[in-house]
Formats: sequence, C-alpha cells, structure tokens
Amino acid sequence: MKYSDFINNYQSDSGIFILMEDLNKGLNLDPDLVMLGGGNPGFIPEMQEYFYLLYQELGKNKKLFFDMIGIYDSPLGSQEFREELADFFNLFFGWNLTKEHIAITVGSQNAFYILFNLFSGYSSDLKKNLKILLPITPEYIGYEDVPLNKKNIVSLLGIPESTNEDFFRYQLDREKIHNFLETHYEEIGCIAISSPGNPTGRILSYNELIFLKEYSSKYHTPVLVDCAYGFPFPNIIYKQQTFIQSDYFIYTFSLSKSGLPGIRTGIVVANPDIIKIIGKIQAIQFLSPNRIAAFLLKNRFKNFEFIQQCKQYITPYYLKKRNLVIDGLKNAFKKSEFLIHEPEGAYFLWIVFPTLKINTQELYQILKQNKLIIVPGNYYYPNLSEEEKQSPYYDGDKSIRISYSQSDEYLLKGIEILRNTIKEYL
Ligand SMILES: Cc1ncc(COP(=O)(O)O)c(C=O)c1O
Repeated sequence: MKYSDFINNYQSDSGIFILMEDLNKGLNLDPDLVMLGGGNPGFIPEMQEYFYLLYQELGKNKKLFFDMIGIYDSPLGSQEFREELADFFNLFFGWNLTKEHIAITVGSQNAFYILFNLFSGYSSDLKKNLKILLPITPEYIGYEDVPLNKKNIVSLLGIPESTNEDFFRYQLDREKIHNFLETHYEEIGCIAISSPGNPTGRILSYNELIFLKEYSSKYHTPVLVDCAYGFPFPNIIYKQQTFIQSDYFIYTFSLSKSGLPGIRTGIVVANPDIIKIIGKIQAIQFLSPNRIAAFLLKNRFKNFEFIQQCKQYITPYYLKKRNLVIDGLKNAFKKSEFLIHEPEGAYFLWIVFPTLKINTQELYQILKQNKLIIVPGNYYYPNLSEEEKQSPYYDGDKSIRISYSQSDEYLLKGIEILRNTIKEYL
C-alpha cells in the first residue's frame, strides 16, 4: 500500500484505541473479564424503559419513522432539534442562543476532532503553529491523539491538595498557567478541559471558570468545556456545576452517558462563527450527523422531561455506586496505601497508590491476566513534557482509573482482584 503521512498518526495504538478494544472484549466478547476500564454508561433500568417507550412511540408513526431513517439532515443536524436545544438552554440557563449557536455532531468525540484541529496546527495567517492547552492534567485520554500533529497539545500538571480526611483534589496551578499564557499566548489556539473531569471526576468551580475566562477574553482564545457527564444532562454530578456564557466559551454536551452511546450524538454550543465552520467540515467528513436523537427526544428537552429523568434516575444510580466503591476500597486497603481524588461527578475513581513498586502499565498487564481491566494512569497526561514528568505532582505511574458504571457484583469482584493482585507490590 502507498499510504500518505496521514497514517503516521494512527500506526501505533493510542490509549483510547486500547481502551475501546478492552471495552469491546469486556462487554461483548469475554463475560469473565471484569471491566472497570472503559467509559460505557451503566444500564439503568428506568432510563432504558424510558428510551424504549420513546422508541415504540416513534415506531407507531410510519411517516416519522420513514423521515428519520430516509432523509439526510443538514450538515449541522436537524434544524428543529437545534432550535429546541437553543430554547432549552435559554430557558434553563437564561442564555440568549439561537440555532446558529448549536451543532449536532457524531458524538462529542468527533466534535473534538474538528475543534482541536481547527485550533491547532500551522496558521499561515498568524505565521504560528497553534496548540491546544490542557491547563490541568490528568485529563481525558480521548484528547491525546486528536490533533493531526500530536505535538500540538501542551499539558500542565494540577497540584494535588488534600481536601478532607478522605480525598485529595488537583487544583489548577494558577501561577504556572498565568506564566505560560503570558509567554505563549500567541501559540495557544484553544484551552480545553473536561468537567466533570475524566479521569478524576473534578468539576470546574465558578472561580476557576472566571479565572479561565479572564485569559480567554484577554488573548481571544476559546475555552472548550467538555460536559459529557455534566449538568443538566446526563447530570452525573454530586456537587453544583456552574456555567458562564461568553463568546469565547465552547461547551460540548453528549447524549451518550445518559444511556445512548449507540446513537452517537454530541451537541456543541459555541459562537455562530465556529458553528458555521463545524457545519462545513461535517459536510465533508460525513455529509450530516445522524438524526435519531432529533426524532427520539423531540420536545423532551423543551418540556424538561429528559433532564428530569436524568436527575431522578441517573444521578442517584451513580452516587450509590460511587459510595459502594469508596467503601469497598476503604475496606480493602489501609489508609496509607491509597489516595482517592474527590469524586465530584462522572463515574470514575482516580486512585493513587503512593508506595506502588511497579508502574501502573505493568500493573495493568498483571491485572488483565487476572481478568480485571482498569486504565493505567499514565495515559491521562497527553504530551506532557519530560520535565513535568519529573515533578512530584506527576502521579501517572502510581495511579489508575476505575469506572463504576457496571453492576455492584462486578464492582466488588473488581476491588477484590485489585486488592489480591496489588498487595505484593505495595
Ligand atoms: C470526558 C469525555 N468527553 C467526551 C467523551 C466522548 O463521548 P461521546 O463521543 O460518546 O459523546 C467521553 C467518552 O468517554 C468522555 O469521557
């Protein structure tokens, strides 16, 4: 084959590829594997029933069904759905959006592919090579290989601080971010952050949003806040999540974590210039996004029904599991053996084992042989500099992420395997 350099980005296995392959093995192929690795949402009976009813209702109306499956949408997704979403955000947050602020994408992951490449790489206008800044790592594994040139991501470490007896929390290193932006602002195309964060479950506070907003306005640099797990849907949050409206803020939302990863629907809220470009790119990439969500959830945003379902069934489901896993870990390990990041949202625990004698890549392989899948921490520091890796704040080799979206039985079995495997290495 005569491949172009495009293939160079995809020759080696990215962290997200390995994770998705593991997920497929765990959930689809090998029932004995305890899968605490991937980001698949749990099967919440009430949500499944809700979606099933909506699907049946849709199926009763032949015309609607044929429209849903038989017609390409516009490159930005269903106009009616975008209007409904704009009305919903306006009512809910008091924003003043129109459909021109909204794009429907093929999952939010694909939105990152478009946005990260729009804001990174060489700009002949500026005569600069632009990069994406991740102001606090550990950060989502799925960002790492998204820019066509991997080197166009810059990561900064968060500072771990204990917040109470049970947890620690990475704080933004405000001084470092300030110094970095003061000296490198011309080459930063976009600042990106997940909130609730994957892998830590960290939610950006109002103060932190204001801190980032200051730099985004000063340097005309957008801030992308990835809300795949957040408020108001799927609402996997255990403390308040706040938002600010700004021309420089891009919010990405997803329907996946409410229980609909199979219909691949992401929602981008951004200023109309950015949205217009997304439409042009999507037309080239895949003509138009799918329109199942637009039909399935029609009017369910406007009347708040969907978000009420999320609040009533999704939030308590994960809160209960979060507490079960924390208690399970406390029973399995001595206090001095592990640290947990304060889980403020999402369905992951970021666990650091300060005295671990092997790195968590090795641990991952051993656990896999013992039929437990976790994600080793080192994947969550995209393109982190060698200098930063020497910092005492770098936890990549001593940390793991576990997902607690699966059944209680699975979770407890997973903790048992983790405990039995890891004890000789602590
Ligand atoms: C933080 C975060 N953002 C975005 C996504 C992408 O989700 P989707 O493409 O299904 O919307 C994920 C998936 O796991 C995620 O963890």
